Amino acid sequence: YRAELDASDIEKGTYPHFMLKEIDEQPLVLRKIIQKYRSEKGELEIDQEIVKAVNESDRIYIIAAGTSYHAGLVGKQFIEKLAAVPVEVHIASEFGYNMPLLSAKPLFIFISQSGETADSRAVLVQIKELGHKALTITNVPGSTLSREADFTLLLHAGPEIAVASTKAYTAQLAVLSILAEVVARSKGKEIGFDLSRELGIAANAMEILCDSKEEFEKMAHEYVSTTRNAFFIGRGVDYYVCLEGSLKLKEISYIQAEGFAGGELKHGTIALIEDGTPIIALATQESVNLSIRGNVKEVVARGANPCIISMKGLEMADDRFVIPEVHELLTPLISVIPMQLFAYYAALHRNCDVDKPRNLAKSVTVE
Ligand code: G6P
Repeated sequence: YRAELDASDIEKGTYPHFMLKEIDEQPLVLRKIIQKYRSEKGELEIDQEIVKAVNESDRIYIIAAGTSYHAGLVGKQFIEKLAAVPVEVHIASEFGYNMPLLSAKPLFIFISQSGETADSRAVLVQIKELGHKALTITNVPGSTLSREADFTLLLHAGPEIAVASTKAYTAQLAVLSILAEVVARSKGKEIGFDLSRELGIAANAMEILCDSKEEFEKMAHEYVSTTRNAFFIGRGVDYYVCLEGSLKLKEISYIQAEGFAGGELKHGTIALIEDGTPIIALATQESVNLSIRGNVKEVVARGANPCIISMKGLEMADDRFVIPEVHELLTPLISVIPMQLFAYYAALHRNCDVDKPRNLAKSVTVE
């Protein structure tokens, strides 16, 4: 890389790219979030006004774009499973002309790293005109979406410079899980585990993965350095992480990548499988472990080159990588890291501009 220094090189420290630095910051950010959202009594805590707004609503509508949309899909699981509030997740740009029938007392949650995405802002303006309440979850205090919403929850992830979002995604998941837990507790619901503790365990697991970079570098080289396409498959929350993993790969390496629900393969995508097609399969959920492995067998029979990433306790022979065990609801915080590193090294091998991919902007302020 270049010998001369400019301001951005100094901020990167010894890292060749912001993306790698931001991937590595994830355990730290997660620990910071636990701290920021913990009360003096040691319980997780969120502004009472926000908890009240959630409890007064009969349905949550999450609105977001790109990676933040993928975080919303996982967030729905947290909120529905822990707090038992129904949640819909919508792509911001679709919502405006395709507005669903709203419930009697909707609460809108805007998830946006930058807090500036025009598509999301357009929805915020629209629902404010209808008189509905909005909460923005963002990394940028004072951003447009934060100023214009009724409430804000901050990600505390520090500036994210690389166009491909990494630490903001895991921070969004962490904050959404905390929101779900605090709402559950306010309703007197017993969630059956200590979320702070489990998030702490997740931070340790993140660290282990960030220390296994060579492994993912090798994986990227073997699987995607010469391919034009790649498929990511998973079921349940693993599917949502696959959507994010495929987005990361296409954004920065320009490999055509798609995330699929394992069960949908046979309804079309399997036609694309050829000799050597890379298939990255995620297996972190006990309830679907066998079915996702069944899908892998189907594609292997058609020549695919499988790369199974599983969680400890669910691993089987031939799995390429086993991630440390974390609470089964929180696996997306961990399983996304192999995907991020995979995309990073794939882009590097292909000599792509990792931090500033072609045609993309960090924050899209036009509709
Ligand atoms: C752009 C960025 C993506 C990001 C999306 C939403 O497309 O390149 O990384 O996920 O916008 O951004 P936001 O700031 O609203 O989360």
